[in-house]
Amino acid sequence: PDPERDRLLQAYDLSAKFYHFLLKNTEYGKEAMAYLRSRNFSDKMIDQFQIGFAPDRWDTLQQFLEKRSFDLAEMERGGLLSARSEGRGYVDRFRGRIIFPIANRTGKTVAFAARILGEGQPKYLNSPESRLFNKSRLLYNLHQARASIRKTRQIVLFEGYGDVISAWEAGVHNGVATMGTSLTEGHAALMKTLADEVVVAYDGDKAGQAAAMKSIPMLENVGLRVKIAVLPSGLDPDEFIGRYGGERFMDQVIHAAVSTVKFKLIYLKKGHILLEEDGKIAYVKEALEIIAALPSSTEREVYLKEIATELNLSYESLKQDCNLLRASLQ
Ligand code: CTP
Ligand code: MN
Ligand code: MN
Ligand code: MN
Ligand code: MN
Repeated sequence: PDPERDRLLQAYDLSAKFYHFLLKNTEYGKEAMAYLRSRNFSDKMIDQFQIGFAPDRWDTLQQFLEKRSFDLAEMERGGLLSARSEGRGYVDRFRGRIIFPIANRTGKTVAFAARILGEGQPKYLNSPESRLFNKSRLLYNLHQARASIRKTRQIVLFEGYGDVISAWEAGVHNGVATMGTSLTEGHAALMKTLADEVVVAYDGDKAGQAAAMKSIPMLENVGLRVKIAVLPSGLDPDEFIGRYGGERFMDQVIHAAVSTVKFKLIYLKKGHILLEEDGKIAYVKEALEIIAALPSSTEREVYLKEIATELNLSYESLKQDCNLLRASLQ
C-alpha cells in the first residue's frame, strides 16, 4: 500500500478532467480550442485523448486541488504544482498550455505533457519523473492501443502525441509514442512482450531518420521484426495527414513501410551525391557492406539487382564484389 501514490493518481485523474472541462466549456479554453482546430484535432479525438487546457494563471489548479483537500506539498512532489521561487507557497506548474494526459498501461493518468500555444520554448513541458511516471518505460497511448496490438501482434511506433492522435483518426489503432526519439531497451523489451513486429514511423526530418536508424538494432536485439515507414523529408506523420489526408497516410506511409535493409540503403544514399563517380562508388561500397552481411542469397540478389538498375551497373560485377566481401567476412 502506498497512500501518497494513490492520492497522486486521484489528483491527476481529477486534474485531467478539470483541464479537459476548461478547454471545452469555458472562456479560458477558447484560444486553445481555436489552435487545436487549426491543427485539425477533431472533437472526437479531443475527447478520446482527454486533451485539456491550463489557463495562463498562477493558481487555477492550486485552488481546485485545495478545495478538494489535497496536500499541496504532495502535489508539488507529484509535479502538478511548483514551489514559488520567492517566499512560501506554490504556483501551478502548467500555465497557458494545452494538456496531453499521459496514462500508464492500465489507463491511469500519471503525468501531463503541456504544449505551448504556437511557437516558443520549451515546446513541451512535462511532469517530472516520479514514483508514477518513468518516461523510459512508458509508451504514450499503450492503454488504448493494447486491444489492436493483441489482435495484430504489431505496434506502430511514433515520436509524439499529435502523431499518435492523427494516426488514430486515420485508422492506426495500434500506435504508441516514445515521447521524443529516445527509445530505450526498456521500451523494446516491453514491446516484445506484446507484439512480434514494430513499424517505426518517426519524423521525416534528420533527427527522426537518425533515430529510426538507431532503433533498428535495439528492436531487433529483443527479437522483434522491424519495418520502417518513410516520410517525405521534413514532414512528421501528423503533418503528413494534415496535408494529404488519412487515406494516403495508410496507403503511402504505413502500408508502404520498407524492410530495415531497404531503409538503411535509402538512408545511406542521402549521404552521397550519386551523380558524381566518387559519390556513386562510395555509396555502392557501403551498400555492399550491408548486403553482404545478409544470410539469404535471395535477399542479396533482390537488393543487388535494385542497385544495379538504379545506378546503371551490371548485376554481375556487383555480385562479384559482394561475394568477395562475404568471403572476407567469414
Ligand atoms: N518532446 C518533448 N519536449 C520537447 C520536444 C519534444 O517532450 N521540448 C517530445 C514530445 O513527446 C513530442 C515528441 O518529443 O511529441 C516529438 O517531438 P517533435 O517532433 O519536436 O514534436 P511534435 O510531436 O511534432 O510536436 P508538435 O506537432 O506539437 O509540434
Ligand atoms: Mn470529454
Ligand atoms: Mn521530431
Ligand atoms: Mn514531430
Ligand atoms: Mn508534429
